[in-house]
Amino acid sequence: MSFANKVVLVTGGSSGIGAATAILFSQEGANVVIVGRNETKLADVAKKCSNPLVIKADVTIMEDAKRIIDETIQAYGKIDVLVNNAGIVRYGSILDENILETFDELMETNVRALFHVTYLAVPHIIETKGNIVNISSIAGKIYPDSSLMAYGVSKAAVDHLTRGLGLQLAKYGVRVNNISPGPTVSDILINAGNDMPWEALAPAMPLGKICDAEEIADMIMFLASDKAKSITGVDYVIDNGKMLTK
Ligand SMILES: NC(=O)c1ccc[n+]([C@@H]2O[C@H](COP(=O)([O-])OP(=O)(O)OC[C@H]3O[C@@H](n4cnc5c(N)ncnc54)[C@H](OP(=O)(O)O)[C@@H]3O)[C@@H](O)[C@H]2O)c1
Repeated sequence: MSFANKVVLVTGGSSGIGAATAILFSQEGANVVIVGRNETKLADVAKKCSNPLVIKADVTIMEDAKRIIDETIQAYGKIDVLVNNAGIVRYGSILDENILETFDELMETNVRALFHVTYLAVPHIIETKGNIVNISSIAGKIYPDSSLMAYGVSKAAVDHLTRGLGLQLAKYGVRVNNISPGPTVSDILINAGNDMPWEALAPAMPLGKICDAEEIADMIMFLASDKAKSITGVDYVIDNGKMLTK
C-alpha cells in the first residue's frame, strides 16, 4: 500500500499504537508527522521513521493544537490523513471524591482535544479529499471493568463523533472512520498507574491473546487507503473476540 507523497499526521505518535502507525506509514513512503509530549519517546520513534516531522505538543493545549497544524502545513503544505490516536486511560468510581477531575481529564484529552485537532485539520483534509481515522476502544461499547466508566464514556463519544463527522464530511469526499481496539500492548496501563502485565488479560479473550500495536496500525492503514474508498463512518473492532463475551 503506497503512501508516497502523502502527509500522515499521527497524534500520540510517540508510543504504542501511534508509534507503530507512524513507523508503518513511513515504511510505505508517507511523510509522517509525529506528535506527543515525551521527547525521549518521540526521538526513539523518529529514529525508526524516514525524515519525520516531530512536534512536541500537548493536544489539550489550544495553542499547541494550532501549532501542530501550522507546523505540518509549513513543512508539507497539506494533510492527507489524520490519525486521532492520542489518548489516556484513567480509572474511577462515581463514589470517588475526585471523580469529576478524572472525568474532565479524560474528556479533555480523549474527546475535546480530538475534536479541536480535527476542527483545525478539516479544511486541509477537504483540500486533499483525505481521510481521518479515530482511535476509540471497545470500552466505548462494553465495560471490560466497571472502573473504566469515565474512559468508556469518552470513547463512546468518539464513536458518535466519527459517525457525525462521516456524515458531515462525506459531501466533500472526506472519509472518517473509527477503530476500536481491545487490549493492545502499549504504555497505556503503566501511564494510568496500572502495572498489571498485559498477558494477564489474555485468558479473558476468546482467542486467548491480546493485540500488538502493529495489528492496529495495519487496520489504520487499510482504512486510510484507497482500498477503503467506499467506507466511511464505521467502527472496526479488533479485540480477539472480547465483545462476544458481553
Ligand atoms: N492499548 C490498549 O489496550 C488500547 C485499547 C483500546 C483503545 N486504545 C486507544 O489507543 C490510543 C493509543 O493508546 P496506546 O495504547 O498506544 O497508549 P500509549 O502507549 O500510552 O500511547 C498514548 C499516546 O498518546 C499520547 N498522548 C496522551 N495524552 C496526550 C496529550 N495530552 N498530548 C499529546 N499526546 C498525548 C502519548 O504521548 P506522550 O506520552 O508522548 O505524551 C502517547 O503517544 C488511545 O486513544 C487509547 O485510548 C488503546
